Amino acid sequence: MSDSNQRITEYDINPIFIQRWSPRAFTGEAIDESLLFSLFEAARWAPSANNSQPWRFIYAKRDSAHWHALLGLTNENNQRWAAKAGAIVALISKTSHIRNGETEPSPLRNHSLDAGAAWTSLALQALYAGLATHAIGSFDREKAREVLSIPEGFHIEILIAIGKQAERDSLPADLQAREQPTPRQSLSQFVAEGSFSFRE
Ligand SMILES: Cc1cc2nc3c(=O)[nH]c(=O)nc-3n(C[C@H](O)[C@H](O)[C@H](O)COP(=O)(O)O)c2cc1C
Repeated sequence: MSDSNQRITEYDINPIFIQRWSPRAFTGEAIDESLLFSLFEAARWAPSANNSQPWRFIYAKRDSAHWHALLGLTNENNQRWAAKAGAIVALISKTSHIRNGETEPSPLRNHSLDAGAAWTSLALQALYAGLATHAIGSFDREKAREVLSIPEGFHIEILIAIGKQAERDSLPADLQAREQPTPRQSLSQFVAEGSFSFRE
């Protein structure tokens, strides 16, 4: 079936799903603001519980006043390659909201799930627009809360490096070795009919 960058699918799907991957080689070019906002536009239309839309994005474009603050949140390893991204975005999610007719906030149980859906939309739109994305989960969340002035009631999900993809050989040798699309489990390992019958 479809094969992109040695990714083989068991069923026919739109190639965009296997064409997306998380490279570390970025060119260091800045991203045009309207292009960046087209990614947020895609994220905007993600589904969410009760249409609560709990995702929030805080961005810093390369060379802007906020760039070093966001880049500085990533750990040393991630900073080695993320420093060449065109923008870094923090994805946070709202953990509770006040429902219609109520005065006390109730928890948004699916805030991370919904934020994840928005992240995927953003990543796929980026690919469509000729950009690459790479999620970063290893960063200092306490520092992020302080640096980005994130109030209580919001969960810090991930940072996202976005940019134009560069050639693999622009990376340091150790990162070059990891610069390739990853495979996936077979469908039978994570899809079951009727009940939980996985061998975990
Ligand atoms: C929530 C999350 C956190 C991640 N954190 C990091 C990270 O800190 N550093 C990194 O290099 N990649 C990180 N990644 C990228 C994953 O390693 C990558 O998505 C995974 O290996 C699948 O590969 P692919 O995105 O190329 O298909 C993260 C991805 C996600 C979704």
